[in-house]
Order: sequence, then C-alpha cells, then structure tokens
Amino acid sequence: MKGLNINGLESEIPLIQGGMAVGISLDKLSSAVANEGGIGVIGTAGIGMFFEECEKDYNAACINGLKKVIANAREKTSGIIGVNIMAALSNYSDMVVTAVEEKIDLIISGAGLALDLPSYLQAGAKTRIIPIVSGLKAATLIFKRWFSRYGYIPDAFIVEGPKAGGHLGYKKESIFSKEHQLESTVPQIRELCEKIMRDHGKQVPLIAAGGIYDHTDVEAMFKLGADGVQAGSVFIATQECDADIKFKNTIVNASKEDIVIIDSPVGMPGRAVRNKFLEDVGKGIKKPINCAYRCIKTCNMKDAPYCIARALSNAAKGDMENGFAFIGQEGFRVNEITTVKEVIKRLFPEYETGRKHGGKNGT
Ligand SMILES: Cc1cc2nc3c(=O)[nH]c(=O)nc-3n(C[C@H](O)[C@H](O)[C@H](O)COP(=O)(O)O)c2cc1C
Repeated sequence: MKGLNINGLESEIPLIQGGMAVGISLDKLSSAVANEGGIGVIGTAGIGMFFEECEKDYNAACINGLKKVIANAREKTSGIIGVNIMAALSNYSDMVVTAVEEKIDLIISGAGLALDLPSYLQAGAKTRIIPIVSGLKAATLIFKRWFSRYGYIPDAFIVEGPKAGGHLGYKKESIFSKEHQLESTVPQIRELCEKIMRDHGKQVPLIAAGGIYDHTDVEAMFKLGADGVQAGSVFIATQECDADIKFKNTIVNASKEDIVIIDSPVGMPGRAVRNKFLEDVGKGIKKPINCAYRCIKTCNMKDAPYCIARALSNAAKGDMENGFAFIGQEGFRVNEITTVKEVIKRLFPEYETGRKHGGKNGT
C-alpha cells in the first residue's frame, strides 16, 4: 500500500479524513490527521457560526472564519490540509474563492454537483480539486463537463457510498439498493479512471468513503479498486476532534438501532443518531422557523421544521437537546474516545505514522 498522489501532491498514508460540518472538523482535527501523514479536511459549511460576527453578517463570518481556521491549521501542521465545500452552499463561490486565495492544498466538493469548480482556479493556482460523487453517472458527468468546458480533469474522485454519515446523495428509498453500494460503484469508477489515464495520461486516484472502521474495511476497498479511503465517523471520537465532548459521547454511546435515516430540510436524506430532538421533529412538534442564514440553496426554509445549520452547530457546541449528530452506518462500532494516531493505526496498522509533519506546536 502506498500513499495518495493527487496530481503531484503526495500523502504518506492513503487516507482522507472526511470534512465534517458544522464545526466537527476544524483546525484541530484536520491538522492532527495531517500530522500523522493523512489528509486533514476542514468542514466549511456553517463555519461562521463559530465566530462572533455571525449574528451581524453570516457570510462575512464564514469568509473570515474560514481564513482563521485555515491559518490555525497551518500553524499546527506542515502536512496536507483540504477544505470540504458543499456545492449546495449559498456562499459556495465566496468560500471557494477564499480557499483558493488562501492557497489551500485541496478543495473537496459534494452535496450537489460542483460543475463549475475549475472556473475558480486562476492560472498557476496550486489547489487541487476533487468532486465527491455517488456513482459512475455523476463521475462521468463531472469529468465530461470539466474537460469540455475548462480543459480540466478532476485531480481525484471520492465515491461516497450509502453507508456514509451526513447527507447522502441518494433517494431515501434507494439507499440500500445493491447498485449504489461501493461494491458496485468503486469498480465502475475505477474503469473510468483507467480510461482517463489511457486517453489523457492523467492518473486520477479513486477514494472510497462510507462505513470505514478498520483495516479489514480498508483492504476491502483496495480489493475493489480504490487507491485510498475517506473516513469520517471514526475521527469524531478522538481527543483532537473539534466537537464538544457531549457530541463525541453521542457517537460513542450510539447503538446500531440508534442510527437512523432522516429527511433533512436541505432536501436530501441523512444518517444520524436518533434523539428527542429528531423524535419531536418526526412527531410534528417542531414548527417552521424564521431562517437567519439562508445558508443552503436547496433548503426548504418555508416548511422546514427546524434550521439545520442551527441544530448542527448547537450539537457541535454540546447542546444535544437542540440539535443532533450525524453518523455513518458503522458508527456504532466506535466505542471509546481515543486519539487520531490510534484511529489511523487501526485503519493502517502497517504504517509508522507521524514521521514527517510535526507542526510548529510539536505534535
Ligand atoms: C458529523 C458529520 C458531518 C459531515 N459533514 C459533511 C460535510 O459538511 N460535507 C461533506 O461532503 N460530507 C460530510 N460528511 C461526510 C464525511 O465527510 C464522510 O464522507 C463520511 O462520514 C464517510 O462515512 P463514515 O462516517 O462512515 O466514515 C459528514 C459526516 C459526518 C459524520
């Protein structure tokens, strides 16, 4: 097994820590993963909610917050740091422009099709761009659009399967169908990557996400044709994760039966840990609210029984009564709070991690 080579940007370990909004993967978690030789990713949706100016100007808080979090991560590591910017964000353009200006190593975009992402790369920009796709159809569409319109080939593909945590790129009724599982989609997109290599001479690594807990899961993805994995839930229960301890404990205490599929106000299904907040939503007890942020293009704010940005930021800050936690299908296997180093050892026991990237703070 070797590290990832993303258009010349090389990681020691073939691992991306999935970007987790709102406020779950910020500078602490992402830099800790980067320090161990993986790729650390800042979740940018709602990032402004962790800064004071949010109530005055949400967009300015997001832009300034993003700059601060990137700078803080850079202080802590010389490893690879990316940002996850959901294509459905209302301030998508501003966030992408800011990330490129800050010379972020890579931008990862899912939750919608990031069809115009290459248009933000000015000549000479070093930022790599990676779409998250749910299957071959989306991967082919993005490849064709990027190539025909911008002459740009994706620097990697992340295929996120239906076992993932957070919002899911499938219709609720087809989440469990065989055709969407990584066992089907990874080999198909592998073929597309091989074809791109043959036709255009560009190596496009394929990264599989959703349901990765340990080395056996990683091996299974490699056998299917992946070059690397992206994992999210396993990194929540770490000392370095940016979320409040109550959020982390929600993940640690979740049983298999607690993990449910919900209808998110943003118009996609999501996977979460059930709690009283979500039960009240289900019972119709929660009523539509005034939207303060208009943060997601597809949010049905007129009828939404709650503000998802507010609920997720409440949870990240430890107020689980007024929010809830997203989690992956295998998240029930996470049973203790440990360190990023230990999680990476479980995923990649053969690597001696953390050799190169000790940050200025000496991790
Ligand atoms: C709490 C949480 C928040 C997430 N937030 C985002 C996000 O903002 N954008 C995104 O593209 N994916 C998001 N994801 C998905 C992760 O980046 C990752 O792909 C996924 O968690 C992989 O599945 P796993 O949890 O089974 O490892 C989130 C997942 C979780 C658990």
